[in-house]
Amino acid sequence: MYQPIPINRTIKPAVKPAPGTPLGFGQLFTDHMFIMDYTEGRGWINPRIEPYAPICLDPSTIVFHYGQAVFEGLKAYRTADGSINLFRPILNFERMNTSNARMVIPPVDPAFCVHCLKELIRVDQDWVPTDPGTSLYIRPFIFATDAHLGVSPSQTYRFMIILSPSGAYYPEGIKPVNIYVEAEYVRAVKGGTGYAKTPGNYASSLISQANAHAAGYVQVLWLDGVHRRYIEEVGSMNVFFVIDDQLVTPALNGSILPGITRRTVIELAEAMNIPIEERAIAIDELAELARADRVSEVFGSGTAAIISPVGKLKYNDDVMIFNDGQIGKLSQIFYDTITAIQYGQHPDAFGWTEKV
Ligand SMILES: Cc1ncc(COP(=O)(O)O)c(C=O)c1O
Repeated sequence: MYQPIPINRTIKPAVKPAPGTPLGFGQLFTDHMFIMDYTEGRGWINPRIEPYAPICLDPSTIVFHYGQAVFEGLKAYRTADGSINLFRPILNFERMNTSNARMVIPPVDPAFCVHCLKELIRVDQDWVPTDPGTSLYIRPFIFATDAHLGVSPSQTYRFMIILSPSGAYYPEGIKPVNIYVEAEYVRAVKGGTGYAKTPGNYASSLISQANAHAAGYVQVLWLDGVHRRYIEEVGSMNVFFVIDDQLVTPALNGSILPGITRRTVIELAEAMNIPIEERAIAIDELAELARADRVSEVFGSGTAAIISPVGKLKYNDDVMIFNDGQIGKLSQIFYDTITAIQYGQHPDAFGWTEKV
């Protein structure tokens, strides 16, 4: 149904890491990348697959100065029969369009993007790692390419997809993490760009992440930008609480990124008849509930970890410990169920996976 995508294959394929090689995250890239360009009046043109290589941009290119860009993150999973699964990929490109609209970047066709992504993965299929828990991380991104200064939307853009074989997130099993509640800086504000996946949100979070690391914590819990009270996200994950056996997650309010794993957890909970509530939850309310021993589990949700249990939360002088610092029952169920569907070990009753 689509025109064939031109493929310029590398004449120098890199040596792929042997099974058992630690891959880390985002260090290694496959032999090819996908590219298409946008020009006003012509739309998205010249979709193509090229050898992975540095790109050359004029120093005045808009993206360097004004940050007009968006990105996405998803994974491909090697299944036991050797095939390759994608997990709800259309949602990533639909979310990319939400980000595009906020950043005044022209929309893409999500179905065409999934088609191009599958073509690219087929070209580099031998790069999809086979060790348990490993995956091929997929990074689609768009940036403004007009070469001039002046704050105005670019008239030209580049869309690219690069692929990175990645190691298991939990090579030694799931371990709950310690989180530091950021009381000084905020990640996003109402009317800002919090719901968009745009680089500036991540640049502005670096200082908090550095402070959290210096204090011996792994990640930051973000509070809302107006009251500095309502819980938003944990690092680059959405966050869930189990309060009196009910699942609670902050409602999407415009400053939270609408995570695809978040949506998956909510849909699974509904299918499992686990009560779930999306609402505003204040940090002082959480502290009080924790003191009353009513919070049995806290976990983050995101593509990288799928589920990341929180063992300890530090808010000013208050230190909250959840489930004795152990992974909770629901966290384990969601982790096991979602990863089993992704790796094709569990029947996919929801139709969430697609073969490459
Ligand atoms: C700020 C932020 N929140 C939440 C998420 C989780 O989203 P997803 O489940 O789609 O990976 C991400 C990761 O993309 C993120 O960057």
